[in-house]
Amino acid sequence: MLLGGNETTRKIDSFAINELKIPGIVLMENAAISFVKHIDENEDNFLIICGKGNNGGDGYAIARQLFSKGKNVKIFCISNENMSNDCTINYKICKNMGIKIFYEIEELDKLLLNCNVVIEGIFGTGLNSEIKGIYCEIIEKINAVSNNKKIYSIDIPSGINGDTGEIMGISIKADITISFVTYKKGFLNSKIKNYLGKVIIENIGLNESNINHLINEYYLTPEMIKSFHIERNEDSHKGDFGKVLIFAGSNGFYGAGNIVAKSCVRSGVGLTTVITDKNNFSLNVFVPEAMSFPINFNNINENFEKLQNEILNSDVIAIGPGIGKSQQALEILEKLINIEKNNKGNMIKLVLDADALNLLAENRELFGNIKNRAILTPHLVEFSRLTGFLPDKINKNKLEVTKNFAKKYELTLLLKGKNTIITNGEILFVNSTGNSHMANGGMGDCLTGIICSLAGQKYDLIQSASIGAYLHGKIADELVKSQYIVNATDIIDNISKYINKIF
Ligand code: ACO
Repeated sequence: MLLGGNETTRKIDSFAINELKIPGIVLMENAAISFVKHIDENEDNFLIICGKGNNGGDGYAIARQLFSKGKNVKIFCISNENMSNDCTINYKICKNMGIKIFYEIEELDKLLLNCNVVIEGIFGTGLNSEIKGIYCEIIEKINAVSNNKKIYSIDIPSGINGDTGEIMGISIKADITISFVTYKKGFLNSKIKNYLGKVIIENIGLNESNINHLINEYYLTPEMIKSFHIERNEDSHKGDFGKVLIFAGSNGFYGAGNIVAKSCVRSGVGLTTVITDKNNFSLNVFVPEAMSFPINFNNINENFEKLQNEILNSDVIAIGPGIGKSQQALEILEKLINIEKNNKGNMIKLVLDADALNLLAENRELFGNIKNRAILTPHLVEFSRLTGFLPDKINKNKLEVTKNFAKKYELTLLLKGKNTIITNGEILFVNSTGNSHMANGGMGDCLTGIICSLAGQKYDLIQSASIGAYLHGKIADELVKSQYIVNATDIIDNISKYINKIF
C-alpha cells in the first residue's frame, strides 16, 4: 500500500488532474462513491459536517450519494464563503437537491443530538496550522457526542497533521477513518491510535501503476508480502535453499546464538552452521539441525584456515547477537566481512545485528567492506550510535534519516521499533505488524535468524528484511490473541506455520 504525506497527496491530485486529465470533480465523486461503500446499509440519519476546502467538497459529495440512496441526511456548513471550486459545485448541487443545510453554530448541538451518524470533512491534508475559534468549538461539540454516535472522518480526522500525526490543538476522535490513495505517514504516530479508529484506505479511481512513479514508500500489506514469494521448486535439494553461516553467541551468551540458529533453521534455509565457543554444548541440543564450528575465543587464528573455507562456502553470513565487543569479536567480524564473494562467485550477503553494529559504529572504515550486500538491523539506540544522531532527532524524521543513511552507505537498513522501517535508500517499507507484548530479550536474535534464512533462500536484501519483519510481527500479533507475553521461542515454534499462511 502506498504511504504518503500531505505533499504526496497534492502531487497525486495534481498529476491526476493535469497529466491524466481527470477533472478534480470526478476524483471527488470517486472518493465519495468509495467512501459510501463502507457505510452500513442499516445506518441512517446522517449529519455531514463540511469545511470549505476539498475535504468539505468530499463531504457534500458523500451527502448527495447518501441522499440519493434515500437516506436521511442533514449538512452542517461551516462556511459557504471562499469555498474551493469543487467544494462549491457539490455544495450547490446539495442545495439544489433539497438536502437540508444548516449554518448556525447554535444549531449544532441539536443536530448532533438528533443524528445517528456523523461524517466529518472539516479538514483533510490541507490543515496547515493550529485549530482555533469556531473550528475548535465545532470539534469539541462533535467529540462530546462521540460516545453514543458513530463518527466517520473523511481522509484524516480533522485536527491530525497528515505528515506527522501531531494533533494541531484539537482533533476529532473518529470511529472510522476512510482515507484515500495512500496510508498517511501521520497515521504511523502511535499517540493518535484512539483518534483514528479503524483505518480504511480507498481508491479515487486511479490505478497504482498510474502513480507509483510519484512514490517510493509503502506500508506493508499481506498482498505485498505474498507478491514477494519465490516458489520452492519440487525438484530441489538443500543446496538450493542456501548456506548460512552464523557468528552469534559468545561465552555467556550462548542463548543468543542458539536462537538465531533455530529461527534460521525453522525459516526454511538449506544448511545452517554456527561459529560458536568450543564449550557451547547447548547448541546441538537446542538446534540439532545446525552444524557447529567450534572456535577457541582466546586464539582465533588457530582455526582461521578452516573458517576461511566456511566463509567461501556460504551464501549468507549473520553476525552479531551476543558476540560482545572484544578485540577477538572484532577480528572475527573483520575476517567474516573481508571476503566479498563465495566459491560460486556470488556476493556473500551479510546480516549485521547487535554487537556487530556497535563494532561497526566504532570502526567506521568497515562500512567500505559491506556495500551493496548487507542488511543492518539496529534498534533506535544502535542506530543512534551508527548515525551519531540523538534518538529524538531520528524519531522526528525517521523516514528521511533512514533512507539517507541506507543510500549513503549503500546497504539495506531495518530500523526496529513500532512500525519497523526497511529501506535501501531507493524504496522504503513500513511494517504493519508487531506489538508491545513481544518486547523482550531474544526477539531481535530471532528476527536476525529469520532474515538470514530468507536471504539464503534467494530473496533479495530488501525482501528478506521486509518479509522477516512482517512475519515476526504477524506471529506475535496472532499469539497475543491468546497469551500475554510472546517470547522468541514462541515465535520460533510458529515460524513454519505462519510462513505458510503469509505466502
Ligand atoms: N484553521 C482554519 N482553516 C484552515 C486551517 C486552520 N487551522 N488549516 C487549513 N485551513 C484552511 C486552508 O487555508 C484551506 O482553505 P483555503 O483553500 O481557503 O486556503 C482549507 O482549510 C483546506 O482544507 P482541506 O479541505 O483540508 O484541504 P484541500 O482543499 O487541499 O483538500 C483533500 C484536501 C484534497 C480533500 C485531501 O484531504 C485529499 O486528498 N482527500 C482525498 C482525495 C480527494 O478527495 N480527492 C478529490 C479532491 S481533489 C480535487 O478536487 C482537487
